[in-house]
Amino acid sequence: MNNFNLNSLIRPNVKALKPYSSARDEFKDFDQDMVFLDANENPFENGVNRYPDPQQRTVKKILAEQKGVQLENILLGNGSDEVLDLIYRAFCEPREDNVITLPPTYGMYGVLANINNVENKEVLLVNDFQPDVDAILKAVDKYTKLLFICSPNNPSGNTLDAAIIENLLKSFNGLVIIDEAYVDFSSEESWLNKLQNYPNLIVTQTLSKAYGMAGIRLGICYASAEIIAVLNKIKPPYNVNELTQQRAIERLEDVVVIENEINIITIGKNKLLEELLEVNYVETIYPTDSNFVLVKVDNADKRYAQLLEKGIVVRNRSSQPLCENCLRFTIGTEQENEKLIKALKEM
Ligand SMILES: Cc1ncc(COP(=O)(O)O)c(C=O)c1O
Repeated sequence: MNNFNLNSLIRPNVKALKPYSSARDEFKDFDQDMVFLDANENPFENGVNRYPDPQQRTVKKILAEQKGVQLENILLGNGSDEVLDLIYRAFCEPREDNVITLPPTYGMYGVLANINNVENKEVLLVNDFQPDVDAILKAVDKYTKLLFICSPNNPSGNTLDAAIIENLLKSFNGLVIIDEAYVDFSSEESWLNKLQNYPNLIVTQTLSKAYGMAGIRLGICYASAEIIAVLNKIKPPYNVNELTQQRAIERLEDVVVIENEINIITIGKNKLLEELLEVNYVETIYPTDSNFVLVKVDNADKRYAQLLEKGIVVRNRSSQPLCENCLRFTIGTEQENEKLIKALKEM
């Protein structure tokens, strides 16, 4: 292993911080027939008059069982975007530290760097969207705290090579965040199974994609108990609301329904991939392990506008590095996919 030392990565103010202690943190024994007069809530029951569990224990218990991890390895957030922001705020000193991101990738890593006033060192993916280990390690200096890896990657769709990621986990002394927002669409193994091997590994997942719950905002962070404890210290006390917790519990138990939806999306994707071969202005169809496909066309602005005319909104990714004239198509229902295919062939 490298010289990873979590303590040396934590911001001094976070280390020194005495976290806010909420009423529900101080007294959490919900099961007893107690009278709760400690949180200045309205006592009349309507289902949400009480503050939610700040540690979301029921949601975490289900996740822990399903994923084979312990409760102390899980932190939940208001979407994975909140989780990613917490990671910045715990470990990156504004105007001093830096992070490494690997464009073309999910834009929020860079936006969060800007919000937190942290330098973002961009090291482009190479060779069909794989990390360039030498260039990444060259970019690392003593202020580099975080390395963001998105796998499967948005917008390219591919899984990043496991041996390359392993090499980075071993060589980089900071934290490696592997964003697995799309992992449920992939046949590749999740990095969750490697948490024990790498104390510098953070895996993020979300209920927004395969789980079909983008509207409730629930992001998940898996890491060592030590890393989770640091993030817990700075998270807003009630960051995951009661309605979200309730809906997540219901949905997480719908394992068969979710699997069925993923299968249907995968069948739709394979059909779209085949049909795209017949569209003469499609120049490249990039391999995808996600619920979307990136395609290079002759003129992305023109094709985007034509699709819009036909009532179909896709994502134009042309402004991203290495994505010139690229459109990203999310896989929809069978009818939606057919509408897209028909429109593409007519244009
Ligand atoms: C790679 C990646 N990570 C995270 C997110 C956001 O996830 P959430 O909805 O949990 O904030 C997205 C959304 O598009 C994404 O593409």
